[in-house]
Amino acid sequence: MKTALTDAFGIQYPILNAGMGRVALPNMVAAVSNAGGLGVYGAGSNPPEQTRADIHLIRSMTDKPFGANAPLALPNGRENAQVLLEEQVPVINYSMGKGDWICKAAHAYGGKVMASVTDTKLARKAQDQGCDAVIAAGHEAAGHSGDITTFTLIPRLAEVLEIPVIAAGGVANGSGLMAALALGASGVSMGTRFWTTQEGPMHQNWKQKAIDLDVEDTLYSDRFDGIPNRIMRTVAAEKMAGTRMLNVFEIFMHSFTIAKELNIPWHKLALQTLSLGPKQIEGMMRMSKMLKMHTITITTGELETGMTASGMSVGLVHDMPTIAELIPRIIEEARACEARLAASLTA
Ligand SMILES: Cc1cc2nc3c(=O)[nH]c(=O)nc-3n(C[C@H](O)[C@H](O)[C@H](O)COP(=O)(O)O)c2cc1C
Repeated sequence: MKTALTDAFGIQYPILNAGMGRVALPNMVAAVSNAGGLGVYGAGSNPPEQTRADIHLIRSMTDKPFGANAPLALPNGRENAQVLLEEQVPVINYSMGKGDWICKAAHAYGGKVMASVTDTKLARKAQDQGCDAVIAAGHEAAGHSGDITTFTLIPRLAEVLEIPVIAAGGVANGSGLMAALALGASGVSMGTRFWTTQEGPMHQNWKQKAIDLDVEDTLYSDRFDGIPNRIMRTVAAEKMAGTRMLNVFEIFMHSFTIAKELNIPWHKLALQTLSLGPKQIEGMMRMSKMLKMHTITITTGELETGMTASGMSVGLVHDMPTIAELIPRIIEEARACEARLAASLTA
């Protein structure tokens, strides 16, 4: 299955896992790359030294190309991007910020850069800044998706861009891959489908919950972290989406744990947060609460109090395969879909 993307990145299949912070860890990245896709590490807000150690670990688990995501607007985001450049990661994926400096530095060592975008304006900017591809997340996508659906965003970007477009949001199987290619994408990036594999770090109960849910079972709100965000529908997520006033004392107390987790001195984190505008401060406070709930998703099977990002594609997830099983299956489904289409068009 050759596309502009497989050629550009030197991979066998045009399939990427989303660079999910605290979820796309070295074992997932290596498994995707070893199965012929592009594994993408999620640096999230990790302490930069952890990101560096994880990149070394990935290199010990695969000799195939891999990528890594750094969300630039988050604490440690720019520092993590710098580590990815120093480590000469083959493909860097940045989100939430301006990445011209990343393109320049990555191209100097032969690396490639992808920006995550949600509309035509951001996509054009990414191309102008020197990106080699964009990951375009439609409204269906988990996390920070925009208003435009995958079905309209992808063909429009294929019209206006010269660089490859990778479709994200609403894709979880082979027919989704074929549909994305038919719309003009050169590949797909999947988050929800990959965190529900054996390699996903979430507790088994959460993966089972994902299997039980349907396409309607996500919430889209800016009350999770200040930016419209798609989250799995749970009791805790519904409560947070309905919460207008935050418990400032609870968040203040939790900020010490966060500073420790991110390995940032508390006063520095507080100053960084206070230097943002009032809306962003509220967003950061909400995000700290969300991170606490996300930790529950990973560490315990507690379904009432945890919370995690999830796309509408959760309704298309029906099992918990290993990644080595999933990727060939998606390719097989895509081929079957292609044959079905060809037969129905000539009938
Ligand atoms: C648990 C989880 C964590 C995520 N974390 C990040 C992140 O750190 N950076 C980022 O750019 N996107 C992140 N995303 C969004 C994905 O990049 C992607 O747009 C989305 O998962 C696509 O939709 P899908 O889940 O339906 O496949 C995350 C998604 C999930 C499910």
